[in-house]
Amino acid sequence: MKPPQSARGTVAASAAWELLLPAAAAPARTRGRSLQAALREAVRSGRLAPGTRLPSSRDLAADLGVSRGLVTEAYEQLTAEGYLRSGRGAGTWVGAAARAAARPRAHDLAPRSPGARADFVPGTPDLSLFPRSAWAAAQRDVLAELPHQDLGYPDPRGLPRLRTALAALLARRRGVVADPERIVVVSGVAQATTLLGFALHARGVRTVGVEDPGSPQHDALYTSAGVTAVPLPVDGEGIALEPLRASGVRAVVTTPAHQFPTGIAYSADRRAALLDWAREVDGIVLEDDYDGDFRYDRAPVGALQGLDPDHVAYTGSVSKSLAPGLRLGWLLVPESWAEEIVERKRTMDLGHPALDQALFARFLERGDYDRQLRHCQRAYRERRDALVAALDEHFPGSEVSGIAAGLHVIATLPERYGPEERFLARVAEAGVAVRPLSSCTHPRTESAETKQVRLVLGYAHVPPARIAEGVRLMAQAATG
Ligand SMILES: Cc1ncc(COP(=O)(O)O)c(C=O)c1O
Repeated sequence: MKPPQSARGTVAASAAWELLLPAAAAPARTRGRSLQAALREAVRSGRLAPGTRLPSSRDLAADLGVSRGLVTEAYEQLTAEGYLRSGRGAGTWVGAAARAAARPRAHDLAPRSPGARADFVPGTPDLSLFPRSAWAAAQRDVLAELPHQDLGYPDPRGLPRLRTALAALLARRRGVVADPERIVVVSGVAQATTLLGFALHARGVRTVGVEDPGSPQHDALYTSAGVTAVPLPVDGEGIALEPLRASGVRAVVTTPAHQFPTGIAYSADRRAALLDWAREVDGIVLEDDYDGDFRYDRAPVGALQGLDPDHVAYTGSVSKSLAPGLRLGWLLVPESWAEEIVERKRTMDLGHPALDQALFARFLERGDYDRQLRHCQRAYRERRDALVAALDEHFPGSEVSGIAAGLHVIATLPERYGPEERFLARVAEAGVAVRPLSSCTHPRTESAETKQVRLVLGYAHVPPARIAEGVRLMAQAATG
């Protein structure tokens, strides 16, 4: 297909044309929405940079072969949402604040503030707690024992020995209905999400609900599988049911044991209602149990999957319990999805590395994994307490929530520390790395002026003494 006449000569026009072409080919019924979603994503991902001038609605409509009304509507909607701005009769641009307001991409989630004096960016456990000697011992044993044939292409579901050990672990610790035959060993929650995204796409599903606030990773992964993420508000009990029903989606991704980032555990009522919804629409819930192993002063919240394995796909990984660099996780899907998911895993990478699997199986069988969880649990509880105490001391009047589990808390600071933009600038200047809650909020639902500062503070990777010092530094900078 050659570029349209009117697009030649202007980078912005040709870029817009290319990015929007697939959406313009969507069925008439959904074309308007697809067009808006594609334009939104192009701005959010930075492919259409702030300040880029968009073609006139007449030109773009002609280039895309859609009605001008659809383009006008898309421009108006995105202008209302703050992605675009327009001057009377003077054209339409990508808004200057659009990129800043966008959620960070998945890779931005990793703490990577090597020069920071204090780093509270959530997402990583304490990598110095990695059990090197137990891992080395398991590796030695595995290399000595592993039959030659186990070094061939593995079953795409994973080594039977590992699936058996995982099934026992997940049933015991998380209440998962775990048949070893149905477990798929994957390279993490990210791969599990992508596999499901591709399978949904193949079934003609083009939208999936995601929590708002939620993990930017979910958005990014589904988008890469060609499925549009629809943000659905989270209230004090979990994902809100009314918007979920109204959205028309039939697949939704959730973090019910410890919602990311708010830290709430879904209430029993909401869990039941979510499953009722899934049964009514014959839909599927992806349960991301990313840090379900860590809880401090509340009873364990069993996996949602245990209540309805026919409507819940369950995924987790060792990214919080051992190290994200191992790239090792698991996925259990309802029976009706199993064959398709295993086939996709096969075509994606011909199965997970066999030695890593055998090693982890050995680590599980010897009780080393349980020991590691207990050890981390003690360390992280101490750090959580240190953070809560330091916030209390240096930011009096703050509300700290989501503290009963996981590896991060939400701190809502008193209004005098706001607005958010000023706070973040001052704190960054002082060398303290933090992540605002607004970075996990879909731009459409973000309030224009974030007067009150809300932070997602990760503590697991910071030793207690550094936590106290970091919060002190942050307070000094904020009031400086
Ligand atoms: C909500 C959520 N799910 C899952 C993960 C981990 O993904 P993976 O298992 O692919 O490392 C993260 C990582 O920070 C996360 O924040």
